[in-house]
Amino acid sequence: MITIYEQHELKKWVLQQKGDKRSIGFVPTMGYLHEGHLSLIKKAKEENDAVIVSIFVNPLQFGPNEDFDRYPRDIERDSRLAQEAGADLLFHPSVEVMYPFEPAVTVKVNRRADVLCGSSRIGHFDGVATVVAKLFHLTEPSRAYFGLKDAQQVAVIEAMTGDLNFPVEIVPCDTVREQDGLAKSSRNVFLTDEEREEAKVIYASLTEVKDLLLSGVNPLSAKEKLEELLKKKLTGTVDYAEILSYPELKEPSSDSTRLIAAAAVKYSKARLIDNVLIELT
Ligand code: PAJ
Repeated sequence: MITIYEQHELKKWVLQQKGDKRSIGFVPTMGYLHEGHLSLIKKAKEENDAVIVSIFVNPLQFGPNEDFDRYPRDIERDSRLAQEAGADLLFHPSVEVMYPFEPAVTVKVNRRADVLCGSSRIGHFDGVATVVAKLFHLTEPSRAYFGLKDAQQVAVIEAMTGDLNFPVEIVPCDTVREQDGLAKSSRNVFLTDEEREEAKVIYASLTEVKDLLLSGVNPLSAKEKLEELLKKKLTGTVDYAEILSYPELKEPSSDSTRLIAAAAVKYSKARLIDNVLIELT
């Protein structure tokens, strides 16, 4: 695996792969890699000739009071893990390389971004879409891999790819979990032992509500049940507990065939998100 820090060096490598007719799989990350990220890299390796992983903590997607400065970083460990998982190239630019000056043009997400994480993180998905658009141009991937742990992000990126005609296939990947069901996340390191122990309730509650929806309970009652379960069992603050259509992220209607049950819980030093998708057929 080679590590590249500059845009023009990345471009050179990409053009070489294209010249050799090698397909490129791309996995964008913010680093502090765990098994969730590694599952994306492994899948990309299976399905493409070459795999690019990016590690870039993108300031554009963090609000002023969010954790940009203390987002966990460990590039040496990440390099080793990315290589072991099958990455051929690691792109690790600095903020100055990605944004040499304040951008005059950015991507604005008009739908799918005003609910769930988007309602409390204003501008977050504009920042995600902008950096992913830049990274797509730099890496020119045939396929790009995103985790359904961040299902709203997948919905936004799929919309951006279609609306702006990016010639890339978006591959949504299943959420990798700890044994007790907690979704793996770089932010789990910020939980106290007690918070870590109770955090398994988030997935357990989402699963319980999924079963209710599958048994015919209506989305509104299911949402109330989800709120009740989370509030009763958690010391963390419930930021949201929602049932929406997926990927549109609208209030469910009788026509909805696919729903998402999603929750965000705030602890003292970490905000955890999780979701499950429900196929109603
Ligand atoms: P990051 O949080 O580092 O996540 C990188 C990718 O790993 C995302 O597609 C995310 O959904 C996926 N991922 C995280 N935890 C996962 C888990 N437990 N199981 C499966 N996949 C998981 O998401 C971002 O970075 C950024 O917003 C980014 C897309 C890189 C743009 O800056």
